[in-house]
Parts: sequence; C-alpha cells; structure tokens
Amino acid sequence: LCFHQVSEAEMNFKGIESKFSLRTPAEPDEDVCYLVPGQMDSLAQCNFNHTSKTFVVIHGWTVTGMYESWVPKLVDALYKREPDSNVIVVDWLVRAQQHYPVSAAYTKLVGKDVAMFIDWMEEKFNYPLNNVHLLGYSLGAHAAGIAGSLTKKKVNRITGLDPAGPTFEYADAPIRLSPDDADFVDVLHTYTRGSPDRSIGIQKPVGHIDIYPNGGGFQPGCNLGEALRLIAEKGFSDVDQLVKCSHERSIHLFIDSLLYEEKPSMAYRCNTKEAFEKGLCLSCRKNRCNNLGYKVNRVRTKRNTKMYLKTRAQMPYKVFHYQVKIHFFGKTNVTKVDQPFLISLYGTLDESENIAFTLPEVSSNKTFSFLIYTEVDIGDLLMLKLQWEKDTFFSWSDWWTPFAFTIQRVRVKSGETQKKVVFCSRDGSSRLSKGEEAAIFVKCLEQPVSRKKGGAKKASKENSARESA
Ligand SMILES: *[C@@H]1O[C@H](CO)[C@@H](O)[C@H](O)[C@H]1NC(C)=O
Ligand SMILES: *[C@@H]1O[C@H](CO)[C@@H](O)[C@H](O)[C@H]1NC(C)=O
Ligand SMILES: *[C@@H]1O[C@H](CO)[C@@H](O)[C@H](O)[C@H]1NC(C)=O
Repeated sequence: LCFHQVSEAEMNFKGIESKFSLRTPAEPDEDVCYLVPGQMDSLAQCNFNHTSKTFVVIHGWTVTGMYESWVPKLVDALYKREPDSNVIVVDWLVRAQQHYPVSAAYTKLVGKDVAMFIDWMEEKFNYPLNNVHLLGYSLGAHAAGIAGSLTKKKVNRITGLDPAGPTFEYADAPIRLSPDDADFVDVLHTYTRGSPDRSIGIQKPVGHIDIYPNGGGFQPGCNLGEALRLIAEKGFSDVDQLVKCSHERSIHLFIDSLLYEEKPSMAYRCNTKEAFEKGLCLSCRKNRCNNLGYKVNRVRTKRNTKMYLKTRAQMPYKVFHYQVKIHFFGKTNVTKVDQPFLISLYGTLDESENIAFTLPEVSSNKTFSFLIYTEVDIGDLLMLKLQWEKDTFFSWSDWWTPFAFTIQRVRVKSGETQKKVVFCSRDGSSRLSKGEEAAIFVKCLEQPVSRKKGGAKKASKENSARESA
C-alpha cells in the first residue's frame, strides 16, 4: 500500500514542468541545485535549511527565453537581508517565452506546480507555510496568486511586483492575484499607463495593500531621453531593460527596501492620485502610512488599500514628502491657471532649493494645497522661499497687469516626520509678484500645538484660534 501511494505521488509530480532552483548567496546568478518535488534527498543535496524562511521568486514573460538581469539582483538582495533563508527561483522559462496570451494561460499550470511543490514540503516534513513568501513579477505575480489559492494551507505572504495587466485586468479573482491567496498580499504597481486593457501592469488593486509609486503610471528616469543617455553611457546591452524600465522598477523598489533597511520609503493611503498630488494624504494616523517593500506593516482591511508615494529616479529611491498650504490674498478678483512656482526649503540638516511645481489654479482669497518632495533629508524646517515664475512665453495680459498676491503664512506638513510647521512673512505679509524675486518666510513664533488625544479637529481649531489671536 505504501509503495503504491508513493508511486502514485511520483506520477502526480511527473506533471510538474517548472523547476525549483535553490540559489546560493555565493552564486546568486547560477542554477546550481534543483529541489525536486517527490525527491526528499534533493533538499539535503541542495542544503535546504528547514528552520529558516523561504522566498520563492517567480519570473514573468520573456522574449529571450532567458532569465532577466534582475533575477540575480533580487536573489542577492534577499540573501543580504536574510542570510539564512532559502531563495528559490522558479524556472518556467519554456512556457514563459510563448506568444503572450499562451504564456498568460500557462500561469495556471505554473501556479499549480508551485502549489504542489509547497504542499509537498508541508506534508512530507512539516515545513511551516508561515515561512513561505512568494514574490512574483508580471505574469509571475498571477502564477504566485494561483499557487497561493491552491496550497492546502495559506502561505505567509505574496508580493506582487507590477502584476501583468493584459488578460488579467478584468479576470476573476481565482485566476489572478487576489487578497485571498495568502495571509498577506502586497502589490507594487509601476507601469499602469494607458487604458486598462492596454496597460502592461494591472491597474486595479489586487492585494491587501496596493502601492502606486509616482502614481503607478510611469516611473522617473524611464523616459526616452534618459534611456538614450544610458544607452550612450552603457552601450546597447541594456536596451531590453530600458524598454521595461517602469515595469521592472517594481522589482528594484523591492530590492531597495531589502538593501536600505534604514531608509524605508513611506507610502500614504489616498483615494485618488489627484488628492495625493495636492498633498492631502500625508497622514499616518490609523495605518494611513506604511513602509514600501519588505518591511511593510501588515494592515488588512475589507477593502483594498491604495497607497501612493514619490520616488527618486535611482536607488536609493526614498524621498521626503511635504504638504504645502498657502492662502493667496488679493485685492482684486484674479484667477490664473497653470502657474509655475519655485520653492526652497531650508532645514537643520540640509536644504533643497528651487523645487519646481505648477499650481493648476491660483485665485485671490483662496487657499491652495500641494505636494512637494525633496531627495535629501533636510531635517527640521527653518526657512522657506517662494518664487512665482514668469511664463516661458511672453504674455500681453501679464504685461498690462502685473500680478501679485499677498501671503502671510505658509503651512508645511512633513509626511515622514508628521511634523507641522507654520511659516510667517518677516514683515507680517509678503508680496509675491509674478516674475519677481522670491518671498522669504521664517518659522512663526507661534507654532501649532502637537496633536494630543483630543483629536485633529480640536487641535486645528486651537491653532486657528491662536493664529488669529
Ligand atoms: C539555518 O537557519 C537558522 C536560522 O533560521 C540558522 O540558525 C542555522 O545556522 C542555519 N543552518 C545552516 C546549516 O546554515
Ligand atoms: C480678499 O480679502 C480681503 C480681506 O481679507 C479683502 O480686503 C479683499 O477685498 C478680498 N478680495 C476680494 C477680491 O474679494
Ligand atoms: C470677487 O468675486 C466674488 C464672486 O466671485 C464676489 O462676490 C466679490 O464681490 C468680488 N470681489 C471684488 C472685489 O470684485
């Protein structure tokens, strides 16, 4: 009977076409040893560590039929962060180099292979699935999701790295990545530009936490000019990578979170990209902010949580976010659209000068809020300069009626520190004229009281009472 069962199991495993390469810290780019489902001795041969956690990396569609250059980079970063872990790369290259819709359909079989492999580890030697973290890129994210939905017990975590969009955007949860596929599912969306059925990366949220860096559409440093510069510098070898620059950025953001442990990028919950751009979502209360990548806080809500952040164009990607709020006083009714400004921030640690931003609208006696970010940590804010730039083209209306607003205060809130600072004009109020020199603001003597348990509304009422006093 026993013999019969074993042979039956072996027959089941015969259907598995995917290969499970246990990579090593010494040779992150080489397939040196394969774990074979059904063959217990392959674990010992490959020095699988039964007591530590396991990362399972699943690649996506491939034109060349070869691993892409990010694979060893991710393996290496995982081992750097978790030296005792087992990093397994799933090789489904043969199925991944077909016509895209064919490869997309194969994700079901790949997911099934991975689930059988994981179930085997769990059943044969009680390997805890709480130690299993699947990381899937593009089509691999959906394969990971299918794997997670098929294992008999739930795996600990699935990270979806820009899960593929085409054929999956409108697919039902069982055949794509979804929050039910693991105890915790986090997703990075980095290349979701275009209409939903055309977008390379899936647009809709498919995890417990879905992070859209730089809005999720397209990533900084991935434009054509940048691509050409890199080609000139590095030769033509990386062209393939440049084409997928934004798509693959999801992986590099995750690698960044593994390598720069002390510099986690913060993402902020927001209903829309537009509200985030206005700086309205930099709150950390009630889990509204989170770390991007490896050290994400596992927040599970009934509805998907969409989060946003800005990043640099290269690693380390972290930036520092600020909401700036300005009330523009004006004697006459003036409304201008798409106005270019420059803002400079000076702090205890550093400074960041002439950060350009455009206000979609400025009008007399209205308050406007917007988001800016710095690449350096400027520390506690001390001073701020604001300049209203000339239009690049000559405008007769500007020439006839030079525009100016009066500004008394500028309010700034830091996302990373959650600190709020109010800046005052040194003369009570400053004139901000289009095309003229910058207005300077310093920290007001009266600062907002730090928020106590009483809640936000009460605190802000107190602030405005103090300021008007
Ligand atoms: C296996 O991993 C554990 C930590 O999970 C570590 O203490 C141990 O040294 C590792 N064993 C080997 C043989 O590397
Ligand atoms: C804006 O408000 C100030 C007082 O706060 C007032 O003097 C001025 O007339 C207002 N401007 C317009 C255009 O209503
Ligand atoms: C400015 O416009 C508002 C309505 O748009 C009006 O109520 C107000 O009287 C105007 N103020 C001046 C100074 O023209």
